[in-house]
Amino acid sequence: MKKLLQLGDKYRWNLEGIEFAIEERVGKPSCFIGRVEELEYLYQWAGNIQNGISRSIAFLGRRKIGKSLILERLYNILYNEQKGLIPFYYEFTEGERSARDFYRDFTTRFYMQVIGYYTGDIRWIRRAADKKIRPVFEAILQEVDPLEFRHKAHILYELEDCRRMLQTDSPPYEYVISAVAAPHGFATHIGVEERVVQLLDEFQYLNMCINSGAEKKPCKAYMSVAESRVAPLLITGSLMGVVSEELMLYLPHRFSEIAVPKMNAAEAVEMTMNYGTLYGHQMLPEIAEYIVHITNGIPGRIVEILSPKIGKPRSTSINDVDQMLEFEVGTHGSIKNDWDEYLVSAMNAVNDVNMRKITYFLCKNEGTSYYPGELKKAMSLDIDDRQLRRELELLYKYDIISLDSGRYGGVFDRTLKKVLMKNYGEILNLPAGEFDAYFRNDNMLDYLKERVRLLELGRAEARELKKKLDKLQGEHNNLKGHYYEREMLLTLIRCIIDDKGGLVSGIHVTAFTPKLNCHLETGEEIDIVLEGEQAVVMAECKNYSTENLDKITTKMADDFADKARRLHTCFPNKELRLGFFSRHGFEKKVEQYLTKCGIAFKI
Ligand SMILES: Nc1ncnc2c1ncn2[C@@H]1O[C@H](COP(=O)(O)OP(=O)(O)OP(=O)(O)O)[C@@H](O)[C@H]1O
Ligand SMILES: [Mg+2]
Repeated sequence: MKKLLQLGDKYRWNLEGIEFAIEERVGKPSCFIGRVEELEYLYQWAGNIQNGISRSIAFLGRRKIGKSLILERLYNILYNEQKGLIPFYYEFTEGERSARDFYRDFTTRFYMQVIGYYTGDIRWIRRAADKKIRPVFEAILQEVDPLEFRHKAHILYELEDCRRMLQTDSPPYEYVISAVAAPHGFATHIGVEERVVQLLDEFQYLNMCINSGAEKKPCKAYMSVAESRVAPLLITGSLMGVVSEELMLYLPHRFSEIAVPKMNAAEAVEMTMNYGTLYGHQMLPEIAEYIVHITNGIPGRIVEILSPKIGKPRSTSINDVDQMLEFEVGTHGSIKNDWDEYLVSAMNAVNDVNMRKITYFLCKNEGTSYYPGELKKAMSLDIDDRQLRRELELLYKYDIISLDSGRYGGVFDRTLKKVLMKNYGEILNLPAGEFDAYFRNDNMLDYLKERVRLLELGRAEARELKKKLDKLQGEHNNLKGHYYEREMLLTLIRCIIDDKGGLVSGIHVTAFTPKLNCHLETGEEIDIVLEGEQAVVMAECKNYSTENLDKITTKMADDFADKARRLHTCFPNKELRLGFFSRHGFEKKVEQYLTKCGIAFKI
């Protein structure tokens, strides 16, 4: 099976040969645009599982950045390639559940996907990935019975074993340990050559929602399993702060952390144009660019802005986009609802007005970050230092603000600022009548700031490129010069072989030594020195372009003749013959001068 990860035009993927085992949340698979670098990277990582060199990865990125979609597409590609890598997708979900229930759910869904891989029947995968279905061992065992596929006996044995374990009364944490060990256990079973790639979405809910009894942190069950090279994990988490902290505390050095970046701007514009057209907006490229700027290129936010709703305008102008954004960050908007989940998780226990103010301030001053003391001063906060630190830590942990080397800043998704502006007016202190204008101006300002930043970046890059280009041009000219020297030397040698006389007359094929770039003691150089028995030929080669021929002067010819005569002392008793060549010829007066001096300029 050939590689199925194939990029087509305009950041679209070639979908030929892919059966969509997992139904992707993008809807129509052709709507998945871009994420080229990320997919190529993960595809290679998955490929290296076969070589036993891929470590587990934590793929951390904020809400709606497109993590799940990347996992789903990777799954479908690996599933279809059937290269001995069994993909296993599992999404940890919100809501309390017992360890025993988790065990049942996790193991059945795992074995259903293994069966789906071996039988090539995607219905198994569809059901295994469907959260509405509660898989039941008995039904699966019955269904498997008449089928024939690789490792059937072993899979049946494992399923029976799971069923037995469910009938025991094991401590909750035991269930978690057994569940998470299943994929590694399967891949190491004697006779199984396939390896497993575990794609585990929303990892934070493992600790938050599964009740594992006395052991409060069920993720610890991954301590040894996460080191598996035959069934490594690719986990995602949208609460980056939470997941990152928990990995550090409970699973140290088990995962390479990769921050999922926002979408590359060109990809995001393509994606916006595509969705815009599908949703029936009039989508000009400059409107798409504007949307990408105000959403910071976060694909989920782009879709939320573009998706039509009753009472929400359609886009024909930038003004409409502002209104669409205002709708989505307002009371019934999806962007607001999404951010509210974050805000609530961080703020329910503490002084939320303060924290909203801090968040808004940091968003507003996007690009600048502050040590806690600086922030207190800049915002004239009347707050105890310890309390301020505690609030900042909490906001960071729940991904509402960012932290870099002790300094706090706003998160890069600008829609948070809009949610705060729209819903917590007391922060802004703006009269209601002025809100609309303020909101629009704020968008435009962000847009222009970003454009200026890109232009500046572009200028710096252009300068850097120019430097590199000049250097390359110099090297290229040098090479061109050297190439011409070699060409002339070859011509001279051909003349010797053909016994053409002239500059090489009397020099025999069997008795000459050619040399290029011969150095004098002074460091000067003669391009070609061709030594025969009785004579030595020295030549200078010029490769000036036609418009620069006036730069080849008679003085150059004099300097060359002078160098050559000095070098001639190394060849006593041999006649000196001089050649001065130019690929594109000379000005008349130089030719006349060379003739007068007895220097050959043509062969
Ligand atoms: N590359 C893309 N091309 C087209 N649409 C995309 C792309 N990436 C994401 N989307 C859109 O954005 C939505 C959100 O993506 P996804 O659910 O993968 O994000 P996520 O990071 O997993 O979010 P969450 O943290 O909420 O789980 C998708 O349903 C899809 O509509
Ligand atoms: Mg997701």
